[in-house]
Amino acid sequence: MATDAVTATERQVWRLRRRPVGEIRDGDLTLEREALPELADGQFLLKILYISLDPTNRIWMSDAEGYMPPVGLGEPMRALVAGRVVASRKPGVAEGQIYSGLGVLADAMITDGQGLNRLDLPKGLSLATAFGALGMVGPTAYFGLLDIGRPKAGETLVVSAASGGVGQVVGQIGKIKGCRVIGIAGGPEKCRYIVDELGFDAAIDYKNEDVGARLDALAPDGVDINFEQVGGAIMQAVVARLRRFGRMPLCGLISGYNDVEPADWPGKWGLVLMRRLTIQGFIILDYVDRYPEAIRDLVGWMAEGKLKTRQDVRDGLDRAVEHLNSLYTGGNFGKLLVRVSPDAEG
Ligand SMILES: NC(=O)c1ccc[n+]([C@@H]2O[C@H](COP(=O)([O-])OP(=O)(O)OC[C@H]3O[C@@H](n4cnc5c(N)ncnc54)[C@H](OP(=O)(O)O)[C@@H]3O)[C@@H](O)[C@H]2O)c1
Repeated sequence: MATDAVTATERQVWRLRRRPVGEIRDGDLTLEREALPELADGQFLLKILYISLDPTNRIWMSDAEGYMPPVGLGEPMRALVAGRVVASRKPGVAEGQIYSGLGVLADAMITDGQGLNRLDLPKGLSLATAFGALGMVGPTAYFGLLDIGRPKAGETLVVSAASGGVGQVVGQIGKIKGCRVIGIAGGPEKCRYIVDELGFDAAIDYKNEDVGARLDALAPDGVDINFEQVGGAIMQAVVARLRRFGRMPLCGLISGYNDVEPADWPGKWGLVLMRRLTIQGFIILDYVDRYPEAIRDLVGWMAEGKLKTRQDVRDGLDRAVEHLNSLYTGGNFGKLLVRVSPDAEG
């Protein structure tokens, strides 16, 4: 139902003012209050309820080669959002509906709906869980592991950043598929969580243990699948232990996202050849048409109690950039979201 009633006249928005060098610093982005224009035909006003803070946000701030154009200087910072329609002049879009997808780091946005999809909450799930776990990280884990990792029962799967948004889902799908799952995470609390609460077979605390030595003890015959999210020394330790015909879905390289100069691959190509390894980078955007397949299975596993997810929800748009920075030091525990509005679950 279309309506002419516009209920917000201004918004707060983070704009990119400078390309960060290294970690994001004060002044790279600024939070600004600005007037919202009147809705035009074909547009609707979304009150943003949750914002997803993702490692890739840092990639979008850089003008190095990426998979999407960088955010322009002076533009609103791009982010994945979930919001409620509060006014609409777009046929088929009605007040009260929830939309999620590509938006901006703000408390409201006017949109024609491009990049956004209607979000119908699966029964029994909060918006934080549906948006946080199923919006991007769940499908990323699903397609990366099942399409590229091709797990078989009895195989050994290693996943890094294991307690985070993607990692927690990867490990549990690995268990559902009958793999032996070893998670790598920072600190004893995260390691306990993935084993005791999520059912991983073992955890390696890379902040306090030697990853290579622990892998040798836990998987003396080697590793079949390395779901890679971190890069650097952790990746090298796992790659060196991949077995013949091992697979490596290359999902992320978070340890290097703040690097000023990208690190070089340290000469393991011989090993890729000799062991016939498959290493494939992937970006979830390539799977958008197949999302329903992932959502159907993920929601089904959640309903059966086989898949648990943890969201790390922080309040307030004003500290969003500070929270974003915490991703690169492991300050989050679970999928990191900002609750922009106190009535987000309302
Ligand atoms: N390809 C795609 O389409 C796609 C989609 C979504 C996400 N991703 C990638 O998947 C990875 C995880 O994303 P997420 O959203 O699920 O984030 P997340 O795992 O919830 O948060 C990031 C985690 O990375 C770990 N980390 C950060 N810096 C590290 C370092 N230097 N060394 C080792 N671990 C480090 C931290 O965990 P610890 O405390 O355990 O260190 C931190 O909690 C990222 O690389 C991201 O870019 C890719």
